[in-house]
Amino acid sequence: MLATAQQFAGKAQASRKNTADARGRLLRDLRLSVIDRCNLRCQYCLPESLFGENFRFKSLNELLSFDELERVANAFIGLGVEKIRLTGGEPLLRPGIADFVARLREQNPDVDLALTTNALRLKRMAKELHDAGLDRVNISLDAINPDAAERMAGRPFSPQDVLDAAETAREVGLGVKLNAVIKRGVNDGEILPLAQAARDRGMVLRYIEYMDVGSSNGWSRDDVITGQEIRERLGTISELTPEKPVTYGEVARRYRYADNGLEVGFIESISRPFCGDCTRARVSAEGELFTCLFATKGIPLRAAIQREDFPALLRDIWLHRKDNYSETRQLTPRTNAQDVPEEMWRLGG
Ligand code: GTP
Ligand code: 5AD
Ligand code: SF4
Ligand code: SF4
Repeated sequence: MLATAQQFAGKAQASRKNTADARGRLLRDLRLSVIDRCNLRCQYCLPESLFGENFRFKSLNELLSFDELERVANAFIGLGVEKIRLTGGEPLLRPGIADFVARLREQNPDVDLALTTNALRLKRMAKELHDAGLDRVNISLDAINPDAAERMAGRPFSPQDVLDAAETAREVGLGVKLNAVIKRGVNDGEILPLAQAARDRGMVLRYIEYMDVGSSNGWSRDDVITGQEIRERLGTISELTPEKPVTYGEVARRYRYADNGLEVGFIESISRPFCGDCTRARVSAEGELFTCLFATKGIPLRAAIQREDFPALLRDIWLHRKDNYSETRQLTPRTNAQDVPEEMWRLGG
């Protein structure tokens, strides 16, 4: 059963505001994209065929500056945000990212500061990020076998190096979770090897259902392997026991392996949508606010960021929010050619 807003609102610190949207969902998380580019070309996100050498990502001066990002973050925190997740593209490609983490941390000692990364640059940056005040990293890794990993990521890289980076991150004190998107016929043979790699290291792995985000990945329902199907396959390793959600608006359904007690999660946006307690706002690297991952339009913030009434503007947008795309996608398939959804690499997931 999903936890309700009422159950958890009481846990919010008295000094924090509870800003609820039109469906009663609190504003709790900000996913802040700091750069649009990435050093991988995952076929479900940035396929090389569309985003090859000639594709022009934004130049650094077109992105929100760190001063602007800081103002955005602080305004959201004032409205009740307790968790900030830095995303991209690949956030570790943004020069000065660790200094930015330090600035956020200095002003907000209590906020949960996390970052989602493909970890290609993490090994060398983990300590600096932790010293700057980052709490945790979620690391994307879709396969252990290098060929399967390249099929998913569109470029060759070493899954072993990513696992090593994950261990380094943990050693320096960062919380670490692994994320794996599973696509039928491409990397479903990796479900068990991924589980094994995570279990060998005592790391939490979350399996993500392949989602119909953006308009570049040629998504088809047939390519989706549901969380339930994955759990059945994991049953050959160990029985799984479900865990109760501990915080309002958890994205993953959490289970534990009965044999070793390790947690494993399932992000089931397709088969079990979780819009009912969606607490997440997203801001793209150019400064557009999206109230849903599947939004077709962002709200440009840049011109308003320095204004005194900026927090009031954000509050007003949240108060009117009604998005629940994953719950309604089957009922209202996109029909309008103008209704082009925003891409994952601009929204940061
Ligand atoms: P934790 O705080 O560690 O639970 O992070 P998270 O799972 O919220 O963030 P992460 O960047 O690791 O995202 C994991 C997957 O969940 C990605 O595929 C995201 O796109 C997906 N996800 C996160 N939030 C939402 C959401 O609000 N809606 C949908 N449909 N998917 C989401
Ligand atoms: N479906 C599911 N997950 C996706 N991600 C990127 N694109 C998709 C998609 N179409 C994941 C990445 C990363 C997180 C931010 O989102 O693999 O782990
Ligand atoms: Fe890069 Fe992440 Fe998109 Fe893969 S999913 S191309 S790692 S931003
Ligand atoms: Fe939130 Fe939109 Fe995802 Fe639903 S589909 S959980 S409203 S981001």
